[in-house]
Amino acid sequence: MKILVTGGAGFIGSNFIRYILARYRRDSIVNLDKLTYSGNLESLRDVEKDRRYAFVKGDVGDARKVRKILSAGFDAVVHFAAETHVDRSILDGMAFVQTNVLGTQCLMNAAREAGIKRFVLVSTDEVYGSARAGEKFTEESTLAPNSPYAASKAGADLLARAHFRTFRFPVIITRCTNNYGPFQYPEKFIPLMLTRAAEGQSIPVYGDGMQVRDWIWVKDHCAGLDAALRKGREGEIYNFGAGNEWPNLDIARHLLRLLKKPESLLTFVQDRPGHDRRYALDSSKAHRELGWEPATSLEEGLKLTVQWYASNPDWVRGMHSKGYRAYFREHYDRRDATLAKALSHGGKK
Ligand code: NAD
Ligand code: TYD
Repeated sequence: MKILVTGGAGFIGSNFIRYILARYRRDSIVNLDKLTYSGNLESLRDVEKDRRYAFVKGDVGDARKVRKILSAGFDAVVHFAAETHVDRSILDGMAFVQTNVLGTQCLMNAAREAGIKRFVLVSTDEVYGSARAGEKFTEESTLAPNSPYAASKAGADLLARAHFRTFRFPVIITRCTNNYGPFQYPEKFIPLMLTRAAEGQSIPVYGDGMQVRDWIWVKDHCAGLDAALRKGREGEIYNFGAGNEWPNLDIARHLLRLLKKPESLLTFVQDRPGHDRRYALDSSKAHRELGWEPATSLEEGLKLTVQWYASNPDWVRGMHSKGYRAYFREHYDRRDATLAKALSHGGKK
């Protein structure tokens, strides 16, 4: 397959590119990425000289550029490019609508014109909103996004559905739970803890820390995307969950134990407004139709993640120089001054 990957310099995209190149000797990939603060070509150093891989810097919302790239002829598009951090979407949602909604529409227009035969939209479980105790979302569950990020992803997800209904556009939508593993930008919970705890800095725990996420090892997600790309039915949606539902506080304590750092680093801070209490998916459709199942236990994956961040200080430093410290200062260190104003009902739920 000749595949156009968007957002391949980000966390999951870079893992996906590596996964495909290692698994399929005859596949080739063009990676279209705008290189926002979260995109980093360092995450692809080991494949950049591979003749089956090429990088193009660009915006998925740039119609001319996207059309030109697609005119080279691709068998498939796997669309990762997005603004992805919930907290940033609370501070300012504009870039989220721009890239996640308008960018996706722009890319689908161009892909339709180019007669692309397969388009995988990497959506998220956050489109379903918060799950009640005991509830698991199926692909038929109602979409009820609670953050501007999740709403923008739901916008893309629904546009993709509409393109299938209206134009028979060959789209496959995937909705995965929280990923973790190598190359994740250290503003997200797990790498944030690992990088801060390593320097003896406090770890901000939102609210009571009892929010539940279902954590999936990033390569298990990549395997699911690969299966959806090759075996998925057009117009269908596939949930990818791992069955690893842990409260944030348990994750934090577990990681501190692995790092041999004291629990006193945990600092309870004001909750995120609109904070989803729990995510949980029923992934039986992906199992049944794609033969997909996650293979990595949370304990094993967390151990590997701790080792990876400890062994890659240069990559972490590079990310820190990409606007992370400024964001962190604004978001956490000046939390009372900045966030309390922007997030005025935070913590009162
Ligand atoms: P990330 O923030 O690490 O990477 C996003 C990438 O997209 C970056 O390389 C960035 O430069 C690029 N990008 C942003 N705007 C762009 C634009 N306008 N044009 C081209 N490139 C652009 O994100 P991630 O965690 O790797 O997530 C990838 C995808 O997977 C997203 O669509 C996200 O919604 C989805 N997803 C993520 C998770 C998770 O836990 N991280 C779970 C489910 C779904
Ligand atoms: P995050 O990695 O931002 O992913 P998402 O919000 O998309 O699930 O956060 C994961 C969980 O960790 C979420 O419940 C919010 C919580 N969290 C904290 O408690 N402290 C933090 O500093 C961050 C970034 C997240």
